[in-house]
Amino acid sequence: MDYKELAQKAIDAKSKAVATYSNFHVGSAILTKAGKIYQGANIENSSYGLTICAERTAVFTAVLDGEREFEAVAIASDLDGFCSPCGACRQVLLDLCGKDVDIVLVDSKSNLRTYKLQELIPHSFGEENLK
Ligand code: THU
Repeated sequence: MDYKELAQKAIDAKSKAVATYSNFHVGSAILTKAGKIYQGANIENSSYGLTICAERTAVFTAVLDGEREFEAVAIASDLDGFCSPCGACRQVLLDLCGKDVDIVLVDSKSNLRTYKLQELIPHSFGEENLK
């Protein structure tokens, strides 16, 4: 599918970012398999390590609403290039969305680049290792 609408939702969510310390605003939007979209943005804290990334606010919001099946996660920032998810978010998305979820990166000109999560976190540790 074409992820233009999802990308726009990530761009819109960026305006909700609380980027007090970095001034780096990130928006995210996650698409469920049933077609519903949830948004997220980064929320920073004066105790810096408590900051949460946009991708995690989006996926946690969706999970708290009962969603467990995901198609794609879009990430938008003001970078000229693409903002790729941090290592912590890759791990969280792997556990909650699975390795086949599409990761849709959105640059400041609304260009899209799509990866499978597995490409971004190869040789990963996951639930299959705990059985
Ligand atoms: N950030 C995200 O929200 N998502 C990413 O993919 C990369 C980084 C946030 C965390 C922090 O608030 C700011 O960007 C700078 O690292």
